Formats: sequence, structure tokens, C-alpha cells
Amino acid sequence: MVTRPATGADLAAIVAIYNHYIITSPCTFDIEPYTTHTRQPWFGQFDGERRRCLVATDGDTVTGYACSGEFKTKPAYRTSVEVSVYVAHETRHGGIGTALYSALFDALRGSGAHRAYAGITQPNEASMALHRRFGFHDVGVYREVGYKFDRYWDVAWLERNLD
Ligand SMILES: CC(C)(COP(=O)(O)OP(=O)(O)OC[C@H]1O[C@@H](n2cnc3c(N)ncnc32)[C@H](O)[C@@H]1OP(=O)(O)O)[C@@H](O)C(=O)NCCC(=O)NCCS
Repeated sequence: MVTRPATGADLAAIVAIYNHYIITSPCTFDIEPYTTHTRQPWFGQFDGERRRCLVATDGDTVTGYACSGEFKTKPAYRTSVEVSVYVAHETRHGGIGTALYSALFDALRGSGAHRAYAGITQPNEASMALHRRFGFHDVGVYREVGYKFDRYWDVAWLERNLD
């Protein structure tokens, strides 16, 4: 397995991985699947500095991706990033999420990003374990903040220092 910065050529695979979770899981609060075209504005945010998107590959196959994206739009939030990680459902639990986060947090060192935040819909044992392994601490839980699949969902927020 290799991790590297994502390129435009990876976007279709990134979208396919993410669409699976949009359709099947509350781990994302997106509801409608994307196309590569409709996902382009999101992909365009990555600047190779504080905002990065990395992929994991196995040969020519993209098996997962991890990103540090905008936390909030107001400019004083610019040193904070929201991180997320998605592993192709058929290759989960094989260390890909761990490899992606190792590479992402290495890459963010010295980038000017100061704090990372992650919002994790509950329950999600694997994601909680992954974030805790990478030094994230609990901030608190937003109760019933999302509504998907005909029910409300809690989101636990975690944070860690980056510099
Ligand atoms: C969460 C996710 C990114 C983790 O990536 P992964 O490649 O499956 O995980 P890894 O094999 O690297 O293992 C990471 C940690 O999760 C734990 N874990 C993996 N599968 C697990 C499971 N089914 N139940 C409980 N813990 C699990 C591992 O033991 C490991 O914990 P440790 O660091 O304490 O040993 C991946 O499962 C995924 O894409 N899930 C769906 C999307 C998602 O929830 N993304 C996160 C949104 S916040």
C-alpha cells in the first residue's frame, strides 16, 4: 500500500468510495451521491498546505482517502482544519485508515495548521479508535444534530493539536 497526494485523476475513485457511505451510512450527513463534476468544488479547496487530500493505493486501485478541509468559512478559523477519512468498504479494517492518517498528520506538520477537528456520528467504534490512536481528545457531543435514514444522530467532536 502506498499513500500520496490525490490528483484530479483520483477523483472518480474518491467519489465512488464516498458515495457508498452517503447511501449506506450515517457516518456522513451528505444524502445525495456526487458525480465527479459536482464534487469538483470540494476537491478544488485542497491547496497542498493546510488543506490536503491524500489517497491510499494498491497498484492502480484507490483504496481510501483522508483530507484536511475547511473547518469554518470565517477567516479567523483558517488555522483550524476538519479532518475526515474514508476507506473503501471492502478493504476496511486492514490498516489503510491508519496509514492515511499517519501520512496526513506528517504532511500537516509545519503547514501552519494549528488544530484539527473531527465530527464522528455515533456509534462508530472504528473511527473513534482511529482518532484516539492519533491523539484526538473528546470535546463533546452534539445530540441529535443530524437527521438521516428517518432518525436523529448524535455527533461526537474530537480535537488535537497539530504543531
Ligand atoms: C473508520 C475507518 C476510516 C478506519 O479505517 P480502517 O482502515 O478501517 O481502520 P484501521 O484498520 O486502520 O484501524 C484503525 C483503528 O480502528 C480499529 N478498528 C478497525 N475496525 C474496527 C471495528 N470493526 N470495530 C472496532 N474497531 C475497529 C482498529 O482496531 C484500529 O484501532 P487501534 O488504533 O486502537 O488499533 C474506516 O473503517 C472507514 O472508512 N469507515 C467508514 C467511513 C467512516 O466512518 N469514516 C470516518 C468518518 S468520521
